[in-house]
Amino acid sequence: MLPAVRRDPTGVFLDAARRFGDVVYLKIGPRRGYLITNPADIRHVLQDNARNYHKSPLYDKLRLSLGNGLLTSEDDFWLRQRRIAQPAFNRQRIAALAGVMAAAARETAGQWETLASVGRPVDVEDEMMRLTRTVVLRALLGGDLGPFAGPLDRAWTIINQHIGESFWSIGLMDRFQTAKRKQFDDARAVLRGAVEYIISERRRKQSATVDLLSMLMSARDEETGEGMTDEQVRVEVTTFLLAGQETTSLALTWTWYLLSQHAGAQAKLEQEIDAALAGRALEYADLVNLPYSRMVIDEALRLYPPAWGFSRQALTDDQLGGFHLPRGWLAFVIPYVLHRLPAFWPDPEVFDPERFSAERSADRPKFAYIPFGAGPRQCIGNHFALLEAQLIVATLAQRYRLHLVPRHKVEPWPLITLRPRFGMQMIIERR
Ligand code: HEM
Repeated sequence: MLPAVRRDPTGVFLDAARRFGDVVYLKIGPRRGYLITNPADIRHVLQDNARNYHKSPLYDKLRLSLGNGLLTSEDDFWLRQRRIAQPAFNRQRIAALAGVMAAAARETAGQWETLASVGRPVDVEDEMMRLTRTVVLRALLGGDLGPFAGPLDRAWTIINQHIGESFWSIGLMDRFQTAKRKQFDDARAVLRGAVEYIISERRRKQSATVDLLSMLMSARDEETGEGMTDEQVRVEVTTFLLAGQETTSLALTWTWYLLSQHAGAQAKLEQEIDAALAGRALEYADLVNLPYSRMVIDEALRLYPPAWGFSRQALTDDQLGGFHLPRGWLAFVIPYVLHRLPAFWPDPEVFDPERFSAERSADRPKFAYIPFGAGPRQCIGNHFALLEAQLIVATLAQRYRLHLVPRHKVEPWPLITLRPRFGMQMIIERR
């Protein structure tokens, strides 16, 4: 399956699940495993028997750029890092960050004023990338990127593309493409520079802020009393900087795209916002009155899950859906496919936010919808991301409507994350 998976991973997995059902044997290059799509099996791998699984060797490529941090590490080391970071994401702390998120969204709304008056197309993916990065930096890492802001955008695209394209390679591609390799190494140097800048600025200012960065920098091991090494702090800051901006910005980009294609949903969203806010600025307390905006985001995450697929490797033999899974084999968990199974999602390709109303969600198994993963390795930024996305969508849709540039080609591009292959060229219209 290797050439086919390299060419069109989402297509191959979708087709395999449609043709062969719940458990599909796949041999991809040297790797063997099962694509699983039954929510009970997903639950088994990600939650009930999670101890028997590590993230698959495919994550090695990610480890090369991010280092061995929260997203990529395992077992006791992972647990220690997760415990250190977790308090930064408790409910009250996240709710308290709503003001920072909304203010950043209002700044973007201000900048769009000029763009709307000239009617020049903008790449909304870039706009959302900048905005979500500002939010992560201000809300969790307490700062900005100084001179690294521009270079980091380009660097991350290169890193994402390199890892995405070499994901399925077995080492040869890495060795032969030296020009690309150099570009990748340069991009990693920019990333490292940006992260060092964030940490050194915090040390220089010696501020008393309590946020994720301060927790990482001041954490002490309960038994030994030792803190994290400088390198480990760098690794975690890199993880949060990238995991925090990339996925959320893509969720928003796909949301704007879907709204632009569905006038009914767009109108309903605007009515809800206008009724709830009557022209004033959005605050945290308003969110309970904006249930449709949340359903729009949930539905965008269903159709275009930014973390479109992940995988695990079995540490010992296991049983999946009645099949024997030998030690070392992989379990492929592909939200892009799960979220399109007709058994749980009638007319799966149709954009229908109201699928997520309480009544229509009642009978759906929890593990049929996993844009944030599940079990102990579930996304730590889940609530942070949903709050941020809702505040951004409502703040911007209160003032603007986005139209896809006519004939702009939109195609999902499954790298590590699910990007639009040709960007998302849109025209911003003042409502
Ligand atoms: C819409 C936005 C987001 C999506 C779709 C998303 C998705 C995911 C998924 C699917 C995983 C689990 C991967 C696996 O099991 O292999 C994950 C893990 C993670 N995410 Fe997110 N994420 C989002 C936003 C965020 C944000 C805002 C942050 C931080 C500010 C973040 C930080 C992380 C970290 C650190 C992990 C690793 C957690 C662990 O293993 O303990 N994510 N994310």
